[in-house]
Amino acid sequence: MRILSRKNHEREKAAEKSEPAPAPVVEEPTAAVEEATDGFVVPVEPAAVPVEEELAEVEEAAAAEETEIRLKASDLLAPSRRDISDHLKPVKPEQPVDMAEVISFANQKGGVAKTTSTLNLAVALSELGNRVLCIDLDPQGNLTMSQGIDPDKCEKSMYDVLVDDVPISEVIAHREIDIAVASIDLAGAEIAMSTKIGRERSLEKALGEIHSEYDYICIDTPPSLGLLTINALTASNKVIVPVQCEYLSMRGLVQLQSTLKMIQENLNPNVHIEGILPTMFDSRTLHAREAVSILEENFGDLVFKSRIRKAVKFAEAPVRGASVLKYDPDSRAASYYRNLAKEVLSDGSS
Ligand SMILES: Nc1ncnc2c1ncn2[C@@H]1O[C@H](COP(=O)(O)OP(=O)(O)O)[C@@H](O)[C@H]1O
Ligand SMILES: [Mg+2]
Repeated sequence: MRILSRKNHEREKAAEKSEPAPAPVVEEPTAAVEEATDGFVVPVEPAAVPVEEELAEVEEAAAAEETEIRLKASDLLAPSRRDISDHLKPVKPEQPVDMAEVISFANQKGGVAKTTSTLNLAVALSELGNRVLCIDLDPQGNLTMSQGIDPDKCEKSMYDVLVDDVPISEVIAHREIDIAVASIDLAGAEIAMSTKIGRERSLEKALGEIHSEYDYICIDTPPSLGLLTINALTASNKVIVPVQCEYLSMRGLVQLQSTLKMIQENLNPNVHIEGILPTMFDSRTLHAREAVSILEENFGDLVFKSRIRKAVKFAEAPVRGASVLKYDPDSRAASYYRNLAKEVLSDGSS
């Protein structure tokens, strides 16, 4: 199995869109798209040689590429790199037009900017004309608070949605952005759900009701890989993994990868890592630059090009109950997430 670069993935998606049903036998001298045996779609030029021979060559080239990447990665993180490469970007069915893209922000480490990234990317996507819902799945309720809502005063929250099947529309507050709120009792949801049949799919089920009302649903997850995070990943198409450049935790990424692998195999084959997001990046420090190099060395194109640099505004904005994009629209800090939104959109549309 080879790793698809972001650009290849985009090209292939574009090819899939523009040529919905390519003939399996290439008789006409037109560009075609062939399904390789490893499950990835490989674009093939018009065949001057027999198609079988051409495919064999493509597979050989893919195998060589894989070996090369593994060898490089093996210096630093061989087992995880190899495992992760098997589960990064599976060919996934096209998202039905009336279904929202569901993006989870996950990393079991706390303080890596999951909540900050969920809110600010969500707002940046909505600035671009998308209908966006945020879901706070963290019992700490930081995302809820960052929209000026007190989690202790919420009558109903995601707890009621997950445990008692209350419709999610009943816990959505309309603020700067639509937000399905958390409350402190969400901490008890994992235990309360543990005896429920289909406990891993409670969120997926709840989203059915509102899928067509949004273009993007952004889910903030708690700093653990428990049932709440499993619910988020089971309901998602994409995962964005914020990684703090100051304290790079490769071990954390490996643990996340094995949880994701379990979910792909048992619950949701379509979920994949959309990108690893370097946060709190300070280009003046060697340490931060090294952290990004290690990420790029190991995860290649999977590391977003956007960098979320360190800025005090990210700590100030939530206190005002606002995203950085609203708190200081013209700031550089706001532009970091606007750039990320464009990067996320370009992956999905071109
Ligand atoms: N780019 C940044 N620069 C400086 N501080 C940041 C940045 N992103 C987030 N923070 C701050 O770091 C802390 C942790 O961020 P948070 O989003 O709550 O992380 P998590 O949700 O992963 O625990 C918060 O106080 C937040 O304001
Ligand atoms: Mg958080």
